[in-house]
Amino acid sequence: MSRSAHPAGPRHADVLPEGHYSAPPADLNTLDPKVWAQTVTRDEDGVLTVGGITATQLAEQHGTPAYVVDEADFRARARAWRSAFGTDADVFYAGKAFLSRAVVRWLHEEGLNLDVCSGGELATALSAGMPADRIAFHGNNKSTEEITRAIESGVGRIVLDSFQEIVRVAHIAQSLGKRQRVQIRITVGVEAHTHEFIATAHEDQKFGIPLAGGQAAEAVRRALKLDGIELIGIHSHIGSQIFDMSGFEVAAHRVVGLLKDVRDEHGVELPEIDLGGGLGIAYTSDDDPREPHEIAKALTEIVTRECEAAKLRTPRISVEPGRAIVGPTAFTLYEVGTIKPLDGLRTYVSVDGGMSDNIRTALYDAEYTVALVSRTSDAAPMLARVVGKHCESGDIVVKDAFLPADLAPGDLIAVPATGAYCRSMASNYNHVLRPPVVAVHDGESRVIVRRETEEDLLRLDVG
Ligand SMILES: Cc1ncc(COP(=O)(O)O)c(C=O)c1O
Repeated sequence: MSRSAHPAGPRHADVLPEGHYSAPPADLNTLDPKVWAQTVTRDEDGVLTVGGITATQLAEQHGTPAYVVDEADFRARARAWRSAFGTDADVFYAGKAFLSRAVVRWLHEEGLNLDVCSGGELATALSAGMPADRIAFHGNNKSTEEITRAIESGVGRIVLDSFQEIVRVAHIAQSLGKRQRVQIRITVGVEAHTHEFIATAHEDQKFGIPLAGGQAAEAVRRALKLDGIELIGIHSHIGSQIFDMSGFEVAAHRVVGLLKDVRDEHGVELPEIDLGGGLGIAYTSDDDPREPHEIAKALTEIVTRECEAAKLRTPRISVEPGRAIVGPTAFTLYEVGTIKPLDGLRTYVSVDGGMSDNIRTALYDAEYTVALVSRTSDAAPMLARVVGKHCESGDIVVKDAFLPADLAPGDLIAVPATGAYCRSMASNYNHVLRPPVVAVHDGESRVIVRRETEEDLLRLDVG
């Protein structure tokens, strides 16, 4: 959930109902660069352009709804993370945020590694040429087939998530005549300030092995005894959409504490730690994310300081940003279908997609903003709720936002910051077809994931 979950600025209490919004912006036509992809602007006719292509051209060429990714922005963000961490650290892009073969190639070219958490993500990565040794394999319940495939293909590391998995991975590796590099994912007991479903380091949840009660230390003990695996480090991921670095500070402190205990008990200094992903992005103008270089500096300083205090060699650090790389680089382009003003409440604006292309609002109460992009307007702001075409009243894309009062069916509107966890969490609810992902770059648009067709749906229905 973004930090703007509660109304901040003044509101017209007489006319506007309770909601999650600040005052209407002074100018509805301005596209705040904080929430829109880097190359987004308006052309002389007031139409949104991205990568040199207008929203109307994109709608004509590719239809709506469509996810539109600014390739230059994606590459710039990937590069910024890479260079912020330098050569003494590794950046693993978290593929769960959004993965396609084009994205894998961009990452490879920009020097990033990749974190996958299913056989499907692994297959996508390998099929697009990501070297296996630059892949980390995650998941709290990897199947035997997934583990076998990961080891056979030579992934750089498998992140172990349970006591059973320590043994399972060791046995499979041994049976394949291999020694697999592994990390152990621990839960450090940090309450990340984010939505419950995306907080992952408190103890009462399904990921990782708790540090509390000596369980993580016991996991290390067992892992060090097994021939099929080589324990290279400890992993911690505290949650997602986090702005406050204090959670990472506590996590780093506790992970280094475990490294020290391991050194004291076993005489082994584990050479790596992974501090996960989870860095927040701006979904609305109220959010203030940190830049990669600030994050890199903060994390490196914390780990170095903690290691000096513990008299340990500083381990190689890795991080796994997903949302912070891809999230801001895309928007979803919709066509307005129906408009329903409800007196004294708000105006419901229905678009040609909905919870099937963006489940985050329903799932996490996520906040988004929205803009009219096929033209500008000088009409007064109207409080709108952007909803989809699904058979659920919770089918909300943007809960509360201002759109111009002259909005009409056929207008194009766009929701920014939908690059992460939108296409990757998309569904076929109501047999609605999943939208394409269109990459734009230097005046050209290219479909990187095509729109689903009714044939695709029916191909799976073999009854
Ligand atoms: C282990 C792990 N690493 C990285 C990420 C990526 O998080 P984000 O996209 O918020 O950076 C996740 C997200 O769930 C995760 O579980």
